[in-house]
Amino acid sequence: MGYISNEVAEEILQRIDIVQLISEYVLLKKQGKNYFGLCPFHQEDTPSFSVAPDKQIFYCFGCNVGGNAYKFLMLKEGLSYPEAVRLLGHRVGINIPESSGSYDSDKQKKEKRLYKILEAAANFFHQYLLYHKGETARNYLNKRGISEQQIKTFQLGYAPAGWNNLIEFLTSKGCNLGELEKLGLVIKNRQGTGYYDRFRNRIILPICDAAGRIVGFGGRALDNSNPKYLNTPETHLFNKRHLLYGLHLARKAIRESGYALVMEGYMDVIAAHQFGISNAVASLGTALTREQVKLLKRYTNEIVISYDADAAGVNAALRGLDIIQHMGCRVKVLQVPQGKDPDEYLRVNGAAKFKKLIKSAYGLIDYKLYAATQKGIPATAPEKIAVLQQVLPNLAAIKEPVEQEESIKRVASVLNVSWETVVSELKRYLNQSKNNVNKGNKWRNGDNFVKKSYNINLTNARYRAEYLLLGLILTDFELFSIVKKQITAEHFENIELKNIYSLLLDSEEATVNEPAKLVQKMDEKCQQVFCRLLNEKMPAENKENIIKDCINIIIKQAGKKQQEDLLRQLKEAERSGDQDRVKKLLQELQQLHHKINTGLP
Ligand code: GTP
Ligand code: MN
Repeated sequence: MGYISNEVAEEILQRIDIVQLISEYVLLKKQGKNYFGLCPFHQEDTPSFSVAPDKQIFYCFGCNVGGNAYKFLMLKEGLSYPEAVRLLGHRVGINIPESSGSYDSDKQKKEKRLYKILEAAANFFHQYLLYHKGETARNYLNKRGISEQQIKTFQLGYAPAGWNNLIEFLTSKGCNLGELEKLGLVIKNRQGTGYYDRFRNRIILPICDAAGRIVGFGGRALDNSNPKYLNTPETHLFNKRHLLYGLHLARKAIRESGYALVMEGYMDVIAAHQFGISNAVASLGTALTREQVKLLKRYTNEIVISYDADAAGVNAALRGLDIIQHMGCRVKVLQVPQGKDPDEYLRVNGAAKFKKLIKSAYGLIDYKLYAATQKGIPATAPEKIAVLQQVLPNLAAIKEPVEQEESIKRVASVLNVSWETVVSELKRYLNQSKNNVNKGNKWRNGDNFVKKSYNINLTNARYRAEYLLLGLILTDFELFSIVKKQITAEHFENIELKNIYSLLLDSEEATVNEPAKLVQKMDEKCQQVFCRLLNEKMPAENKENIIKDCINIIIKQAGKKQQEDLLRQLKEAERSGDQDRVKKLLQELQQLHHKINTGLP
């Protein structure tokens, strides 16, 4: 990804109107100075999502997300920052080259060329399927019920029979064989004298990364020949652990539906999308990896697994469960009736029935119990213990007490043991492995954009004064110059407000007037508070008097805190008999007392 300078990003921001942008996604109504609508990032019935046109900042008072136009697109479209800048740049006619030439190293240039070659190969296969001798392949897809639309969307193709169709095409375009080998498109013959095409007489399924760049291919045999699927070997662009089939097409729907549907195979995902279930991706035949869960966490914290109904599918699902829970996601498992994979089920029963299956998907514990009791209810003590061992880590990781209790009850009932037995086993497990279990939960807190935990508490007088003070100087920068003379960052008690204030102090006058630029320099928590302040309805009259009150309160409260500190130190000094220090502290206390009472800084 190319380097994007701050100047360019800020220039684009200046030309974009955030109200117009967000209006494409949210119905906004003007109410006073700001616009309000239903928040696109959480479920709600009454609007708490606000956009401030004068600040070019949005904020949701319900779920505390906020930011500038880039942030909105990143969240809404699941884009990275450079992707968002590029997209908005395009709108206002500032084109940012894929990578601005001078910043491109030789290595980057080579890599970009490799992506281009993969794209050309995909195009070759796709054209072949559509227009050349791709008839058998077209018939095959037809027979499987794959629509024209899906062929286009997934850019399906056909690799013709023969040993060097792709080689001839790509070398005629100027590619060299070394590059093609590096990409896994060709294989060296046994004598080492030449190369032949890896994919021959196969349906081709391009595999993309989250940004939609082709990184490899899957190739399905048209008949029962082996292997059924032939994939690009691991290359430095193609690493299966880090890829999810269909993610670039699904990420928007994942964000909007609030969960990701993880399937086993290519064909399941294609069927799901064809039936309007667009939040589906596939883990490509492996059990879900940490890296794949990490990818999904950019869009959601909820995963529904929908693997095949066979033993392999159940085992793969089981292996995925613990990883998902450990990484702080909720997980459910959907079970299609025996013997079917989701692809087949969808084509026979349709989307409505499949959606019912999604609704009735098992929770984590229930699925483990389901899987463990498939071959019969455990009857003997060792059998019961074996099942308990499997579910204890998951029971321990449930944070909500009610949910945990419910789960304990179900485990007890399925195993036909007492509630107390499960609880005491759980306690024993917890004592054994306290450290391991906590890891997963920390993760969850660390990277949740839409965090509800940050509830602003306005009951505290000092906090209220700090909050109001900062809010007012953000509405009127004249006030800032008054405040600046009396209040330093150290006066603030609240850490976010303190950080924001010191950023304001550090920023040049011009930037202070452009909060949409400033917000980019803050961490997530400060962004939330900052955006809230900018969308908050602040007093419009009598501002200077209110500011004076705030300043007094802050100085007084800060002084009191200091006083308490000094008194504590004084006590210590007296106890240890350090007379010099006692004298010094008394002096300081006197000065402070004077300062507080006269209100001087
Ligand atoms: P269809 O049989 O065409 O419906 O394919 P499917 O997508 O249902 O495949 P299946 O359920 O048999 O396997 C799930 C996934 O595992 C596939 O989509 C592939 O990614 C992978 N897979 C299956 N068979 C092979 C194989 O022979 N080789 C490799 N490398 N991967 C395979
Ligand atoms: Mn299948």
